[in-house]
Formats: sequence, structure tokens, C-alpha cells
Amino acid sequence: MNVLILGSGGREHAFAWKIAQSKKLENLYIAPGNAGTAHCGTNVNISAMDFEAVKNLVWEKGIDLVLVGPEDPLVKGIHDYFLADEVLRDIPVIGPRRDGAQLEGSKDFSKQFMMKYKVPTARYASFDASNLQDGYTFLETLKAPFVLKADGLAAGKGVLILDDINEAKAELKAMISDAKFGTASAKVVIEEFLHGIELSVFVLTDGKSYKLLPAAKDYKRIGEGDTGLNTGGMGAVSPVPFADAEFLKKVEERVVKPTVDGLIKEGIDYRGFIFVGLMNCGGDPYVIEYNCRMGDPETEVVVPRIKSDLLELLEAVGKQELGKTNFELDPRIATTVMMVAGGYPEEYEKGHEVSGLDKVEGSIVFHAGTKQEGEKVLTNGGRLMAVTSYGNSIQEAVEKSFSNAEKINYTGRYYRKDIGKDLLQFGN
Ligand code: AMP
Ligand code: GLY
Repeated sequence: MNVLILGSGGREHAFAWKIAQSKKLENLYIAPGNAGTAHCGTNVNISAMDFEAVKNLVWEKGIDLVLVGPEDPLVKGIHDYFLADEVLRDIPVIGPRRDGAQLEGSKDFSKQFMMKYKVPTARYASFDASNLQDGYTFLETLKAPFVLKADGLAAGKGVLILDDINEAKAELKAMISDAKFGTASAKVVIEEFLHGIELSVFVLTDGKSYKLLPAAKDYKRIGEGDTGLNTGGMGAVSPVPFADAEFLKKVEERVVKPTVDGLIKEGIDYRGFIFVGLMNCGGDPYVIEYNCRMGDPETEVVVPRIKSDLLELLEAVGKQELGKTNFELDPRIATTVMMVAGGYPEEYEKGHEVSGLDKVEGSIVFHAGTKQEGEKVLTNGGRLMAVTSYGNSIQEAVEKSFSNAEKINYTGRYYRKDIGKDLLQFGN
């Protein structure tokens, strides 16, 4: 098969690394890709948001399957674009259509969906310019901290958690009346704060059946001890020791099954990944959010733990035959440590040379924000490389990631040295 992966992050490198190992693969293309994906296939310098350029590429290269990494092209309707085109119609796209992508593209839609299908989630209400006053009243019925979420996509920045009610009211007004997050915050979801430990569960579905992929924990803040600004993710661990078999059974029964069934009942033909962000509240799962794609950097620990041929699974998703496939997992633990540019997630420099990649032993380096220039690998973003390792314990895995991260050098190097540390108390 000829496969095209859309995107340019660590997630896409992890997909490319895995698909490159498939017996079914003939040619692999990644658009636009990065310095790492260039070693798994051919990078093509077009944007995933330029649907016409994607169409031309698919046509030219005889692509048999398209895997969409990020949410933006899905929410914009790349899958619908394929279905509406006579030439592209029969080429399977892995990633939901615009209707399914609303699970991520609209917080209000996803909350209504959860209510309708009785998926446990925080109590909420939605407000816009027509009922801003009611929003203030609703805030008064809640206890601090207050959670405000822009309805639409806001590049991961649209959630505010505030301790003070007056600040919460002012921010609600700024979001709705002053377009703090542009049109994304014309509508705002206000919800109850959930206390617990966060984790993510991933599902692959063909719209009929599903496979539960490994759970993972992500480290969102820039600073050690979960301090400082939010980032796209500074590291990840899979599996999650506090998500034992009993908890995961609850996740499957209370969250995954009603979600997949709900999509079917809504007439949403969802073929792709569902990322379920969860809070473990005293042993019970509550959904914080859905995403219509895999997580990054969670993919860099989840995909390496899939033993089965991923391309075979994706092909089955396209044919709605996922139920017939075998799904095997690697029992080892995987950890990843994200190396970022100095200054990230605020301003940072690009274009610094990365050295020492050839010295890495016993870890896999998934590139994120890098680019190849001749012989050189240059920094080209905020999150640069995810150093993934296997181990029989979290400690064993993460120590490999740290010692290999130490061998990779560039100006302004930074990574968190406490990935996985909080999980050691759970006996791993
Ligand atoms: P989201 O974009 O919905 O994932 O929200 C970003 C982050 O805000 C989540 O990963 C949580 O850490 C936090 N968060 C969102 N909703 C809640 C909630 N209802 N209670 C507690 N924390 C939340
Ligand atoms: N790591 C969080 C995300 O992919 O949204």
C-alpha cells in the first residue's frame, strides 16, 4: 500500500516509524513531515490544510490510505472533502468527518453529546452574548476553582481555570464580548471543577466496533513538579499505574461503549482515533474532553506499545472490519521525554543545530519541531524531539530517556527531569 500521513509532529513521526515496519507498506509519504519522518519515508512540503495540494499528491503518488494526524484539517473537513470528490471518494481517510470532529471542535457539542449518552462528565452550562448575565448567575452556583472553556478550537489555550469569582466573571465577559479567543470564545462552556488525577485513554474505531489502545499520562506544564505555563506536552508514560484493570473496565463500560454507540445513534460515521481525556475521581472516570485524533506526546508512548501491524488495523478501519482484527500489545512500559527550545512555550529561537543524535542508544528519538538542511538537523519549533524508551518499570524506562536526552545538544536545551516521578508512588 502507498500511505500518506498528514502532519509534522512527534505524533506523525511515531506513526511513520510504526507504519514503515508494516509488511503491507510499499511507499510512505509524510506531508509536511520533519527531519525524523524523512528517515521513514518521503517528506512532501505541503500543508495538511491545503486540501487541493493534498488531493494532487494523493492522485500523483497513487495513495491508498491517508492518516490525518492533527485536528485542524479534520475539523475543517478534509474527510468530507475526500468523500465529495469523485477521484478521492474511495480512498480511506483515517480521521473523522467534520461531524465527528465536532467532539473536539466544539466543547458545547461534546458536552451535549456526553449528557445525551450519559457519559460521566462535569456539570456544565453554555453561554453566549444572548445570556451572559445567566453565565454570571451560573458561576455563583459553583465552588472555586471555576473552569471556563472556549467552545471552539483555540490552539490548546482556550481553557481558563480561575480561583476568584470576580476574575471568572471578567474572563467570561472577555471571552464572549471581547473575543479573547476570537470566534472560538463567542460561546463558552462553564463547568464544575473535577478533583483527581488526569490520564488519557485512546480508542480506534471504524464506526462499528473499536479497539481500546493503551492509556497514557501526559505532563502538560513547562516546569518540574507541574509548575509554570501549559505546553503541548512535556513527556508521557504508558501504561498508567493508577489506571488498573478495574478502573479501565469502568472506562470501557461507562465511557468508551456509550461514546461509540452514541456516535452510531447520531448517524456519525466515525473512522479514526478518539482521545478521551479523563479525570480519575476517587476511582471513577469522568470525561474532561474528547479529541478527534491521537495525543502528542502520548502517541510517542502508545504507538511503540502496539505490537500488531498498525497499517493492517488502519486498513481494517477503512473497510469497517476492525472487529475481525487481532490486537496485540507490548507489555513493556514506555516513557517519553520531550526536548524543547529554550523559552518555550513563550518566545524561542529556531535554526540551532542539533548534535549528538548519533550517540543515542537504547531509545527512539521521535522528531517534532526539527528540519533537515543538508547534513544538518536544525531546531524548527518549540517542542523538538521526544525521546522514547521501553522498560520493565517506569524508572528503568525514563532513566534511559534521560540519559539519551543528555547526549542530544542544541543551544537552549531544556527538558523536564521529573517525567514519571509522580507515578513511582504507585509501585512501578
Ligand atoms: P481541555 O482543553 O478541556 O483538556 O482542558 C485543559 C486542561 O484543563 C485539562 O487537561 C485539565 O487539566 C484542565 N481541566 C479542564 N476541565 C477541567 C475540569 N472540569 N476540572 C478540572 N480540571 C479541568
Ligand atoms: N498532549 C495533549 C494533546 O495532544 O492534546
